[in-house]
Amino acid sequence: MIVLGIESSCDETAAAVVRGGREILSSVISSQIEMHKPFGGVVPELASREHLVKIEPIVKEALEKAGVSLDEIEAVAVTQGPGLIGSLLVGVCYAKALAWGLDIPFVGVNHIEGHFYSVVFENPPIEYPALALIVSGGHTNLFFVPEPGKYKLVSRTRDDAAGEAFDKVGKMLGLEYPGGPVIDRLAKEGDPKKIKFPIAKISDGRPDFSFSGLKTAVMRYLKENNIEPLKDGEAPDQTIKDICASFQNTVVRSLLKNVERLTEELNPKTLIVAGGVACNSELRDASEKLAKRLGLPVYFPSKHLSTDNAAMIAAAGSVHLEQGVRDSLEMTADVSMRLQNLENEDQKLRKKKVRYRL
Ligand code: KG4
Ligand code: ZN
Repeated sequence: MIVLGIESSCDETAAAVVRGGREILSSVISSQIEMHKPFGGVVPELASREHLVKIEPIVKEALEKAGVSLDEIEAVAVTQGPGLIGSLLVGVCYAKALAWGLDIPFVGVNHIEGHFYSVVFENPPIEYPALALIVSGGHTNLFFVPEPGKYKLVSRTRDDAAGEAFDKVGKMLGLEYPGGPVIDRLAKEGDPKKIKFPIAKISDGRPDFSFSGLKTAVMRYLKENNIEPLKDGEAPDQTIKDICASFQNTVVRSLLKNVERLTEELNPKTLIVAGGVACNSELRDASEKLAKRLGLPVYFPSKHLSTDNAAMIAAAGSVHLEQGVRDSLEMTADVSMRLQNLENEDQKLRKKKVRYRL
């Protein structure tokens, strides 16, 4: 089946053509990073307006690059949520109109499930059960996936997402937005052991994540040591590099601590690390080492498939379409769409007790 994927949940307008759920014929991404840079983060109103301008040419480019005509598209898969409402609506309305006009099926896809399926293009088929760390600017979750399409949320962040922490620390240091890739680069020249930043321990003992305390610890360190954010064009000195390395190392250890604990508890056959932060070189190296030690394969998407793209949406959509799932024109964007469809009693308890000990 040839599926057109469309992604517009945040600040990337993307379209892709995917055959048989695993072969990318084209994947086109238009990033708005430059537009949001002066604001140090995504401005929702600007984002949705830009999606409106870009969606048509990006879909056209994806079809051209794939060498397929509109008539050859058999179905459309579009990100339904979670994400920014104005941004999501552009993709959803466009996909619905296109599918209706062509009289072909369409399906709404959960963006986080899209990240899960981003590994299918470049790795052997996923062996289930799988344990998936989905770590991006908006999400930090661990899902236990006993079989395709069944998701149990076994760990989540109680506050900031890991990517959000990277971006906020980047901002504090005066680095370019988004902070994640810059911190990754500077950390290579820094000493990860130079500063001891704390790993949050959740007081109810459950294997969840918390990054807001770490962010505060970095802020306190900067204040106590009179470290000013870099000014425009100023080169980072060794202290900034050491902060980047120490911060990044703490995030990576914190993420993998829970992966290790839950692997031992749940015995998955495959580890998956996906989402924008899966670009991080230290997270990749450390995940590979951990997987080796645990005797498991670990699958990552390559970098261009780690950050938001439409190929992953087409891949996830293909699975649903093959199973006969179809959406009707009533379908609409869902800003807080959830992925878990297997209840976890533990997660219900977690909501009640949120206290931190650093
Ligand atoms: O998946 P994504 O493109 O968008 C969301 O769904 O959120 O992820 C973007 C996030 C940003 O926070 C960005 O700083 C982070 O991924 N990121 C990185 C790296 N590359 C991107 N974080 C750490 N190291 C990187 N190399
Ligand atoms: Zn994403």
